[in-house]
Amino acid sequence: MHWTARTGKTLKLATGDITRVAVDAIVNAANSALAGGGGVDGAIHRAGGPSIMAELDQIRARIGRCPTGSAVATAAGALPARYVFHAVGPVYRDGQQGEPELLASCYRKCFDLAEEHGARSISFPAISTGVYGYPLPEAAAIAVGEVARQLERAECAVQEAVFVLFDRRSYDAFAQAVAALT
Ligand code: APR
Repeated sequence: MHWTARTGKTLKLATGDITRVAVDAIVNAANSALAGGGGVDGAIHRAGGPSIMAELDQIRARIGRCPTGSAVATAAGALPARYVFHAVGPVYRDGQQGEPELLASCYRKCFDLAEEHGARSISFPAISTGVYGYPLPEAAAIAVGEVARQLERAECAVQEAVFVLFDRRSYDAFAQAVAALT
């Protein structure tokens, strides 16, 4: 499924493993400690190799933690990409703790990093919807809404954004959110 912005830039949905999809920048669903973990974070470090964590060690030494709603960039090691953007999504509590804005902010920050690094294609997992417990329909609406907003900006460097969804349930939730755009 895909959607085209008035600027001609596209948003696509795919299913599968984000570590297998070739793009300029792969987004990781990381934690504030930038310490690695399970889920998509584990898959990215496994497939990308130890150079990614080595670079995160240096970033951690410089800035400490990465705040929720923000992201940092590393090279992509053995992944089919130039960069990994490690985005820190919110842990979902009740939706009244600023979670929607923090989740939108993760996606926005990745577009800032794409501009900084000249990345024209970018892939996203469904940030916060696994271990961090964000309800899928709400997370999908926020993710799709923010990415679509970015692609509508004439000055947006990214030409193509792909959500790589790991299972059918996630794909369906994102497909509903994309259908609601048009
Ligand atoms: N490709 C694409 N999506 C994946 C992959 C993969 N290889 N592996 C898992 N996913 C999906 C999950 O099914 C879920 O839909 O990514 C989505 C996000 O889930 P998590 O990886 O659990 O991320 P999140 O909810 O943001 O939690 C972040 O988990 O692994 C730790 O270090 C990470 O502490 C952080 C927390």
